[in-house]
Amino acid sequence: MLSNSSHFQESLDKRKEEGTLRRLKLQSDGIDFYSNDYLGFARSKELQYLLLQKITDNPQLLSGSTGSRLISGNSDIAVSVEKDIAQKHQFESALLFPSGYNANLALFSTLPSRHDTVIVDEQIHRSVHDGCKLSNAKKLKFKHNDLKDLKNILKKQKNHCYIAIESLYSMEGDFAPIREIASLASKYKASLIVDEAHAFGVFGYGLIEQYQLQHQISAAVITYGKALGSHGATILCRETVKSYLVNFASPFIYTTSAQDFQWMSIKTGYEFLDQNHHLAIQLQNNIKTFRSRNLQSPSAEASPVQAIIIPDNQRLKSLQDALSEEGFLTYAIYSPTVKAGSERLRICLHSFNTEEEIVKLTGIIEEFIEN
Ligand SMILES: Cc1ncc(COP(=O)(O)O)c(C=O)c1O
Repeated sequence: MLSNSSHFQESLDKRKEEGTLRRLKLQSDGIDFYSNDYLGFARSKELQYLLLQKITDNPQLLSGSTGSRLISGNSDIAVSVEKDIAQKHQFESALLFPSGYNANLALFSTLPSRHDTVIVDEQIHRSVHDGCKLSNAKKLKFKHNDLKDLKNILKKQKNHCYIAIESLYSMEGDFAPIREIASLASKYKASLIVDEAHAFGVFGYGLIEQYQLQHQISAAVITYGKALGSHGATILCRETVKSYLVNFASPFIYTTSAQDFQWMSIKTGYEFLDQNHHLAIQLQNNIKTFRSRNLQSPSAEASPVQAIIIPDNQRLKSLQDALSEEGFLTYAIYSPTVKAGSERLRICLHSFNTEEEIVKLTGIIEEFIEN
């Protein structure tokens, strides 16, 4: 016991020295350039009142589900919301989860068998890595968005392969070449799994829907804690895959179902999204304003996540502090979360940011970089 806790303290002290110690902080007041609330749904009074009305009409929504969905925790609402979501995304079926983390854990711990190989983009979300750890499959990484590297790896595999990508990456703010990867997957008979956490809502129902790639995808993960301003996730897939997950995915089977209120919030979020297309347009206008300021960034033109590389943990911290003093909330990503030398300020743009805020924010960054 003692030796363990001294190891804990050593690791914490090391992080403190490096300036990378994580702490739980309360949200501070300020101008939001760091949250995933891309369309402002989480702050929308209109959406809050819609949800309140649902609860007033049916207070039962707030009650506990009483068990796993396979025992007493299933409900008409969960089933009908899944049916609705599958239809909207034009997939055969959908399976709800309490979070995107759980959805990825379920997918990657369950679908690949010990004879399979999972090939992940080197920037894939941690939840995919953790899912792989729970499976017995071999895991390989390909260089970020590098089709050539992916092809080389695929060529050498004798076993069945799964390819794991995000459609829009949250650290770099760039898109996967999703159509090209889908073609490669078809060519090598690999199963493609796409995480749409950051694209959903910002680009309609996501990039799979926009490019109509449903038939080339084995499973997609949609999360509702970002643009939908809610919480939860769905795995979109074929009926057989859903049934396989329901039978074999521990993160689905051995946990109490979320309350119906969560599923109802997701349903209401979709309705709100369908009625408020202008918010995604407003967001794109704000991204254009940001990009017009000509800061160097590896991020894509249309991405709501814009990264500014400040290679040095201390310098990065000074910039974040300088912005914070002016009331701007941004998020600094230090090594080792990203490679040393590629430390970055992560700026999330929203539909509700004003032109004035964006101009002031970029002005401070520009001045900092020049000095
Ligand atoms: C790409 C990606 N996948 C999955 C998740 C996990 O989703 P959730 O926050 O709903 O657990 C996140 C959130 O950080 C994410 O960015």
